[in-house]
Amino acid sequence: MMRHATFRQLEVFEAIARLGSFTRASEELHLTQPTVSMQMKKLSDAVGLPIYEQIGRQIRLTDAGQELATTAREILQALEHYDMVVADMQGLKKGKLRLTVSTTAKYFAPRMLGEFSRIHPGIEVSLKVTNRQKVLDRAAENLDDLYILCQPVSHVALDARPFLENALVVLAHPEHPLVGVRNIPIARLEEEPFLMREIGSGTRLSVEQMFASHGIKPNIRMELGSNEAIKQAILGRLGISVLSRHTLGMDGMNELVVLDVEGFPIVRQWHIAYPRGKQLSVVAKAFLEFLWENVMPDAEPRAQGRSSRDR
Ligand code: PGA
Repeated sequence: MMRHATFRQLEVFEAIARLGSFTRASEELHLTQPTVSMQMKKLSDAVGLPIYEQIGRQIRLTDAGQELATTAREILQALEHYDMVVADMQGLKKGKLRLTVSTTAKYFAPRMLGEFSRIHPGIEVSLKVTNRQKVLDRAAENLDDLYILCQPVSHVALDARPFLENALVVLAHPEHPLVGVRNIPIARLEEEPFLMREIGSGTRLSVEQMFASHGIKPNIRMELGSNEAIKQAILGRLGISVLSRHTLGMDGMNELVVLDVEGFPIVRQWHIAYPRGKQLSVVAKAFLEFLWENVMPDAEPRAQGRSSRDR
């Protein structure tokens, strides 16, 4: 009977499910390993079915375990929300904001969070940066409060609202022969060695869609796992690429050159998103308000509302 399980056991189990290891869960919760093992034994007994399998040092959840991880997360988040509601009633905005953003958002999200933290000093903020696919995977598991990504359309049902433009541009070395050429036909790019982001990147997805719609096959020289690595490879004259203008930074001290190619920039929208039906915490709502007031002062949040489902 799950009623015999304790909150502590659910907390321990949630950490194991998220971190994939007893050791890391015991470190995070400041518990000893024997305590963690004993709590898990009791929890398995309460469930009446195995909730995990241990293969070497690797922990794998069984189906019953997966379900329990989701349930545990919902219960723990509901309690956390309750704490925040009480803090809100006391007139203090307190609690934690967990935000996961796709890599290109790291060029503006920290500054935004800095401003938000100045207005609400009681709120603890955690920011995770990963590619679009992993953002969607985290949203499917309900691991965070809010997500920032482009092209929220996916198999994960999300409520998503656009709040900022993301322009993808063609970048080259300053001494590249196409620098200064006006209106370069997009087909000309086939002749250039191309540097591509990894599978799972939203930037890559946009680039592939753009090329496919023009019937173009880029000549991929290399696949790289980050925007920074691509920028360095362009400077190393390994090829050209398409990246968000955000990656150029705001200081104007940029060595890369934007080429004037037909069809570019590809203009996408950054969306703030959360799993459809998710109960937003007081703190998450405060962040959304902050976004509408500061980033998009003219936006009407509800009118901007957009949802997305299957692709
Ligand atoms: P990514 O980010 O290329 O790092 O995934 C951009 C996006 O979400 O489209």
